[in-house]
Amino acid sequence: MDNMMVKIKETAEFISSKLSIKPEIAIILGSGLGPLVERIEDGKEIEYSDIPNFPLTTVEGHAGKLVSGTLGGKRVLALKGRFHYYEGYDVSQVVFPIRVLKQMGINNIIVTNAAGGINSGFKAGDIMAITDHIGLFAPSALRGRNIQELGPRFPDMTNAYDKGAVALFQKVGTELGIEIKKGIYAYAKGPMYETPAEILALRVMGADAVGMSTVPEVVTAVHSGMKVMGISCITNMAAGILNQPLNHEEVMKTAKDVENNFVSVVLKFVQNWDI
Ligand code: HPA
Repeated sequence: MDNMMVKIKETAEFISSKLSIKPEIAIILGSGLGPLVERIEDGKEIEYSDIPNFPLTTVEGHAGKLVSGTLGGKRVLALKGRFHYYEGYDVSQVVFPIRVLKQMGINNIIVTNAAGGINSGFKAGDIMAITDHIGLFAPSALRGRNIQELGPRFPDMTNAYDKGAVALFQKVGTELGIEIKKGIYAYAKGPMYETPAEILALRVMGADAVGMSTVPEVVTAVHSGMKVMGISCITNMAAGILNQPLNHEEVMKTAKDVENNFVSVVLKFVQNWDI
């Protein structure tokens, strides 16, 4: 068997053997959005450092553990902390957890992130349902020999973000009195924030928000046949839009301010997601 398949299976079996439930939804929690795990009932935790073949997180605000249990009546597995390309990982390491989740039998995934707002109708603190992405400028998550067992060589990305899930997310937001924006997420390699010229270019291309994650994971999830819901927390307006420099503290602070709304809407979404 291919060495990568051996690792994926070994890790999936390890995690499954430690859990008391079989998760049906995976949730990847972005910068500062980790507090959702506190709402998971009967939560069982596994540190990334205890998981064979898992990389370790390095960035502030990403703790690095799996939490599984019940959320909104569904069996979930949350990943608190993710791997970014800018940390120095190979993109195959960045998406390794997605391969493992699918191998565990999980077919539904919620991918969250902190992002800079490009759409001038957005403001810091908005929650955006991702309808599509632009990922042309970074190495592909699927580069290299294709393992047919994982998915097709040339996967279709036309419906990468599930339309029904986006509609449901907006509906539960409305019911809770939380406005949900919709838009296209552009992937930037980071770790530097973009220049104002880059943001103008991305705007012309149709992007509504920009961030340093999510696209490799979503491409991999779609490749493996998973249903994807993507959510951005607009933590700041992107470079050059407001007359002020960007910083990580601002991103973390806004993510914290949005925490309650984010948790409520994701919880209700999970409750109602027909899987
Ligand atoms: N750019 C890229 N990534 C980000 C931003 C941004 O403005 N805000 C939060 N993550």
